[in-house]
Amino acid sequence: MVLELPPMCGIFGIVLKKRSAKLGDMMVRAAERLSYRGYDSVGMAVANGDGAIDLRKDVGNIAQTNEQFGYDRMSGDRGILQLRWATFGVPNTVNAQPLFSPDEVMVGAHNGNITNDPFIREKLEREGYKFLTENDGERLVCLTHKHLKNGKSPEEAYTAVIGEAEGDFASVFMRRDSREVYAVKMGSSLYLGLADDFICVSSDLPSILEFTRKYVRLENGDLVVFNDRDYRIFRLPEQEYIERPVTVSDIDIENANKEPFAHFFMKEIHEQVEGTRSLLSLYGSTGVWKDFVEALDKANRVFISGAGTSYHALLLGTYYFNKIARLPIFPTWASQMLPLYSNTVGEGDLLVLVSQSGETKDLMNVYDWAKEKRVAKTFSVVNNIGSTLALHCDGMIPIYSYLEISVPATKTYTNQVMCFLYTAMKLAERRGIAYKGITWDDLHRVPELVRETIAAAEEPVKELAPVLLKHPSMHILGQDMTHPVAMEGALKMKEVVYNHPEGMYSSEFKHGPLAVVDKDYPVLFVSLPENEDLVLSHMNEVICREGIVVHVGQPSRGYDKICHYKLPIPAVGNPYLNSILSVIPLQMIAYEMAIALGNNPDQPRNLSKTLTVD
Ligand code: F6R
Repeated sequence: MVLELPPMCGIFGIVLKKRSAKLGDMMVRAAERLSYRGYDSVGMAVANGDGAIDLRKDVGNIAQTNEQFGYDRMSGDRGILQLRWATFGVPNTVNAQPLFSPDEVMVGAHNGNITNDPFIREKLEREGYKFLTENDGERLVCLTHKHLKNGKSPEEAYTAVIGEAEGDFASVFMRRDSREVYAVKMGSSLYLGLADDFICVSSDLPSILEFTRKYVRLENGDLVVFNDRDYRIFRLPEQEYIERPVTVSDIDIENANKEPFAHFFMKEIHEQVEGTRSLLSLYGSTGVWKDFVEALDKANRVFISGAGTSYHALLLGTYYFNKIARLPIFPTWASQMLPLYSNTVGEGDLLVLVSQSGETKDLMNVYDWAKEKRVAKTFSVVNNIGSTLALHCDGMIPIYSYLEISVPATKTYTNQVMCFLYTAMKLAERRGIAYKGITWDDLHRVPELVRETIAAAEEPVKELAPVLLKHPSMHILGQDMTHPVAMEGALKMKEVVYNHPEGMYSSEFKHGPLAVVDKDYPVLFVSLPENEDLVLSHMNEVICREGIVVHVGQPSRGYDKICHYKLPIPAVGNPYLNSILSVIPLQMIAYEMAIALGNNPDQPRNLSKTLTVD
């Protein structure tokens, strides 16, 4: 299955037969459909004939910006819009898209990332372009503008643009002096909608199905040039015009975003392939990790805090920093940080606050305390770079997972962990430490290994789910770097199955909890390759009491012989990769069990995505 990049910003473009007051209304409806893709800022640009382009944009979601600008009353014969989920440049009015070319003849917007943005910026500056924003979209507009201004056709101009701009993105552009709108798909999803009196293009299908059931699914490398009646698709790599099949959809709009999955939870498990790829590519090209590594290196002591899933990720990160970079870190739940350490945190210490949302109250309390006492510097590790923590801490490193819609965290956990492994390796290099056990080549295998892990777990989780469903309680045990994985697996299960799995340290199990084991009591063991003897011995303690033993990890003859069930991961033979991959079968078994019970894993009862209360 080929998946697009995770949802990140939304773009839309439309050409009507003639100027109409319904343009603004249609664009707002499309934006409402796309609103899950970004709410940091929204911008709309409309034009009529060859009159000036009317561009309005600001921070906020579609409801707020529509109220501010009256988007739904804007009239014209064509328009483009963008909803931003910030990845480069803080969410502010200047960085909001769409963006003008310097002469305001052209306006464009994109989603995704231009990974060689600094290089393009430098080159265009040498050619006289001046930039007002930190946003890579501005470089894409100027690059396109440069080629179109030189008299090239859109086909020639975009051929030149994709020869220079690297990354995964989709973009949409329009000009003052042409009725045509152009859109390019280079990694992010893009659909063309066809109707009798307009043609439109959008990042997703529901925003098109809102107006017409006829659509064309565009492919990577497609440039589409359209007006209200006609369109042509030009293959940029092969330099030829092609036809693509027109589909008449019978899809239910509400479910179209999750396609081909029934829930965002499973979609986001699969997005871990592209999410990890994105992180590696963006860290590599932007050097965004440097400030974090420097702050860790210079800190007197490092305290790291988070809640729930983010805590499990930072706990695994603590192992990485110890093993790879010899950096001791104090990990705590955010709510535990002050009771444990408030009297000992001092000048020169660093408080690292880890949060998907960047808004969790337990972390805000730590931040507020640090700010008031002025005792230590704060650094956030966040997914939402427009969040309070991201904007207010002394430093910030993004994890580039893009929007996570399902309430239980899956892909953001994996990217948090990837962030810690990446920065631990960079810190070791900065400190001249010759670490062992993981190389950069190993790390770059993660996206493909995630894909293989998902495929390998598909059948085994189906077999195991009915067995585990018979038991209201179970243990998930991990040793060393798989301890946080076991805790995260147990949390996923609790959230969506509503049962009681307990994740704990395997060696601790015999100090009391072993008493719960009797006939058929399930215990899942998440193993590391080097711990096999120990894990086998812990398994035997359960087996001899007639418990059910499940092995989660790389297969081996030893486990094959004694375990009742297996949730295998690929035989990577590497403890660090093992620690990253082994959460995936646990996420998947939780999903399988939830579905069997009829629970909605995207919206578990009693939970909310962002917890802004104590
Ligand atoms: C678990 C989950 C929660 C969050 C926790 C922290 O799936 O989503 O446990 O991890 O509420 O949220 P953030 O990371 O946004 O601070």
